[in-house]
Amino acid sequence: MTLLRDRDLAHAFDHASRTYDRLTGLNPGYRADLLRSARRLRLPGDGAGLHLLDLGCGTGASTRALLRAAPRARITAVDASAGMLRRALAKPWPDSVRFLHLSAEELTTAGE
Ligand SMILES: C[S@@+](CC[C@H](N)C(=O)[O-])C[C@H]1O[C@@H](n2cnc3c(N)ncnc32)[C@H](O)[C@@H]1O
Repeated sequence: MTLLRDRDLAHAFDHASRTYDRLTGLNPGYRADLLRSARRLRLPGDGAGLHLLDLGCGTGASTRALLRAAPRARITAVDASAGMLRRALAKPWPDSVRFLHLSAEELTTAGE
C-alpha cells in the first residue's frame, strides 16, 4: 500500500476535482446514498441548534446532503484540496454553510 502525504493527497484530489462532479453524476446512486446516510443520522428538529462538520467535503455533494437532511443546522465543510473546494464554493449555499481549506490533521491541532 502506498501512503500519501497530506500534500500529495490534496494534489491528487486537486487533479481529480476537474472530473469529480461529472463522474459522481454518472453514478445514479451516489447522491441518493449520501442523502440516505445523512437522513440516517436522524438529526432532531431539522438540525436546529446543531453545528455539523463535513470533513472531506470535496465538491460539496456530502455537504448538500447534510443541508437537505438538516436545513436548520450550521455546517462547517472542510477539505484539504483547494481544487475540490473551489468547485464547492462555485455552488450556491445559504449563510449557514461555510467552507474551510484545512486538512483533518490541521483541524485537530487548530485548537491546541
Ligand atoms: C472521495 S472525496 C469525497 C468528497 C465528498 N465528501 C463527497 O461525498 O463527494 C474525499 C475528499 O476528502 C478529502 N480529504 C481526504 N483526506 C483528507 C484530510 N486528511 N483532510 C482533509 N480533507 C481530506 C479529499 O481532498 C477529497 O475531497
